[in-house]
Amino acid sequence: MVDLNVEALVELAHAALGSMQARRRGWVINISSLGGHAPGPGFAVYSATKAFVTSFSESLHEEVRRSGIVVTAVCPGATRTEFGDEAGLDATDHPALLWQEADEVAREALAAAAAGKAVRVAGRINRISAALTTVLPRTANRKLSALVTDRL
Ligand SMILES: NC(=O)c1ccc[n+]([C@@H]2O[C@H](COP(=O)([O-])OP(=O)(O)OC[C@H]3O[C@@H](n4cnc5c(N)ncnc54)[C@H](OP(=O)(O)O)[C@@H]3O)[C@@H](O)[C@H]2O)c1
Repeated sequence: MVDLNVEALVELAHAALGSMQARRRGWVINISSLGGHAPGPGFAVYSATKAFVTSFSESLHEEVRRSGIVVTAVCPGATRTEFGDEAGLDATDHPALLWQEADEVAREALAAAAAGKAVRVAGRINRISAALTTVLPRTANRKLSALVTDRL
């Protein structure tokens, strides 16, 4: 997971940014996760690697924005893909309201990159959850995350 979410992402970003800097134009969209906004008991490595994706993308965003390049971290919440089956997760009791379709997330990602955003949390409910993590104490964030991850 560290190889895929951290090492590969860093290598690909640097490979892409070289030619973009020469052209003084380009967009990089890194797929992070709402899970990167708080520690996720039971998903420690996943949450930590996604926190890396968001932080790394934000730093790069500032580093290259004057070169005409936009780097955007997109943070989806629950999205209907093969992810759950592949990871052996059971999200059947996850409320329907919280799910997004992959094409909705893709549209939000493209719009955010086009608008020059550094970070975009996909979906209104996910944006409320993400905003909560910025105001709650760390202990509360951990405990609330555990309430969600314990059910998966
Ligand atoms: N679905 C969600 O609820 C959700 C929520 C938040 C964030 N995300 C993030 O969204 C991104 C896309 O996931 P998804 O939901 O679209 O899941 P997905 O349908 O399972 O797709 C995952 C993709 O990653 C590729 N992949 C997996 N391991 C790989 C490896 N070691 N090397 C190269 N490619 C590898 C798979 O390729 P193959 O098909 O060839 O195996 C597949 O194309 C991930 O970064 C995930 O963390 C998903």
